[in-house]
Amino acid sequence: MGSVRWAFPCAAWRPRREEWLLAARLVQPEEKDRIGQFVFARDAKAALAGRLLIRKLIAEKLHIPWNEICLQRTSKGKPFLANNMSSTCSNYNFNVSHQGDYAVLAAEPELQVGIDIMKTSLPGSSSIPNFFRIMKRQFTEAEWGVIKSMNNEWMQLDMFYRHWALKESFLKAIGVGIGFNLQRIEFNVSPLQLEIGKVYQETKLLLDGDEEEWTFEETRLDDNHHVAVALGKQEEYRQNHSHNFPLNLIASTCNSQEGPIISIRYIPWSLINHGLCY
Ligand SMILES: CC(C)(COP(=O)(O)OP(=O)(O)OC[C@H]1O[C@@H](n2cnc3c(N)ncnc32)[C@H](O)[C@@H]1OP(=O)(O)O)[C@@H](O)C(=O)NCCC(=O)NCCS
Repeated sequence: MGSVRWAFPCAAWRPRREEWLLAARLVQPEEKDRIGQFVFARDAKAALAGRLLIRKLIAEKLHIPWNEICLQRTSKGKPFLANNMSSTCSNYNFNVSHQGDYAVLAAEPELQVGIDIMKTSLPGSSSIPNFFRIMKRQFTEAEWGVIKSMNNEWMQLDMFYRHWALKESFLKAIGVGIGFNLQRIEFNVSPLQLEIGKVYQETKLLLDGDEEEWTFEETRLDDNHHVAVALGKQEEYRQNHSHNFPLNLIASTCNSQEGPIISIRYIPWSLINHGLCY
């Protein structure tokens, strides 16, 4: 089955009316209704692309016919596959993120996974220093030290969003939503500069001050989009596979499982659309 990393450039996707109607018919009715309520077309497109990526993944990798795929959400909103699966597929884990110009997906046959994409962009209504003041509690002193050590305000903002993507990827892997004390998790990023298109796995996570055996895969998709993929521990995931992950599991000390070094594959609309039955 293998690991999957996909990126779909949803901002560049300009569906014709028939395409949009087809795409909307391909997701479950409750999702179609949810997507229909977005005020901005760009948000609706991004959310729809996220759902289509998940369904493409399940159809292709788990060979479940498109119209039999049943996705549900945990109480915190994380989508999971509700179909009865054989034991070989029962650990299959996926997650999507949509922000900026892309929808991205990561999937793993055995590891707990969370993905986040962040686009570096100027804050809407305040200066960068003021924006940082408002966001002070999201990061630890050490993280702010790294963010503010960058040469200019734009690079500081870029480093801010890199940290943000890392934190979100972890929160999304463990499936918790808003409310987690972000001061408990601290990232020690490395290297400081990321080249576009390369995959890095050097960044470390400290949870309550102790280094965690999670792997963080970081990729710069282009000049201003950071993608972070959090990869959990295989044995822990196997033993505790459920759709809600109690936080005390994170701190246990199983052996680590290195994530694979793979790059993001870009998915054009024709490929999402290809071969879907509805
Ligand atoms: C959903 C959440 C987990 C992430 O939201 P986000 O970063 O704005 O959005 P993303 O585009 O990265 O991800 C959204 C997708 O994640 C998935 N998702 C939703 N809830 C999730 C959860 N609890 N865990 C994992 N994935 C989740 C969904 O597929 C969702 O897309 P959809 O609702 O259109 O189907 C958000 O509710 C949240 O709680 N974030 C933490 C907030 C925070 O404190 N961040 C500070 C970081 S420094």
